[in-house]
Amino acid sequence: MLKSWRDDGKTIGAAPTMGALHEGHLSLVDLVRGHSDRTIATIFVNPLQFAPHEDFDVYPRDLNGDAAKLKSRGCDAVFAPDARDLFAEDFSTNISVHDVGENHCAVARPHFFDGVATIVAKLLLLLRPDAAVFGEKDFQQLAVIRRMVRDLEIGVDILGAPIVREADGLAMSSRNQYLSKSDREIAPALFTTISEAATRILATGATWEAVGAWTTAKLRAAGFASVDYVNFVNAATLEMMNHAGPEGRILAAARLGETRLIDNCAVAAKN
Ligand code: PAF
Repeated sequence: MLKSWRDDGKTIGAAPTMGALHEGHLSLVDLVRGHSDRTIATIFVNPLQFAPHEDFDVYPRDLNGDAAKLKSRGCDAVFAPDARDLFAEDFSTNISVHDVGENHCAVARPHFFDGVATIVAKLLLLLRPDAAVFGEKDFQQLAVIRRMVRDLEIGVDILGAPIVREADGLAMSSRNQYLSKSDREIAPALFTTISEAATRILATGATWEAVGAWTTAKLRAAGFASVDYVNFVNAATLEMMNHAGPEGRILAAARLGETRLIDNCAVAAKN
């Protein structure tokens, strides 16, 4: 099918996902559809990006429901391979992106970005789309993929899609369904707290040294069991910052019960 699209001179956009699709994923499809003649979504729960103690076995899967949602959004094709078709028994390759792939989420999930980079490279090389879209919710993941695509000259435009939120501000995620009722009530505090931190930096000129500690304390007080990190970074390089600049971003990960939530927000000082 992809060959016939290419032979017909159509451009192809890809939306790689792990399924359990929600409105955030469907917004990826909407975005990439606007940039290409034909759209393909991939659904593959990638074992390479889960540590042995993580939720690979119980990660939500609903292939039929996902296919129906994708069809309703005008997605032209779905690629949902079986792991046995993708990985030879002696599959031995690992792609590791240093620099943007270090710190932040990599501290608690050291295996994660290698797993993502390796599967995304494989999917892009298999499908050879003109464009591929990834959500800004996984902000570090997006930076890792952009760097990998540039370094390996894979020749695909990487599009970043804005975060889609529930009405109360919680960033949509397939893992939100793990939250208990009481944790679901606490969860939106991740976004409200980092947004308030952004406002403090911009409005008062406070340094991250001061605001960072306040943010962690506020998240703990809101009911988060632990805070993996809250960092203020340059949005392009993901290097830590202390003062507001034109490209600031706050990245955060915190835990409610067994569920780890991530979120981020822009902290852009106007010139
Ligand atoms: O963001 C995701 O859903 C996954 O990490 C991705 C990019 C599809 C790779 O498995």
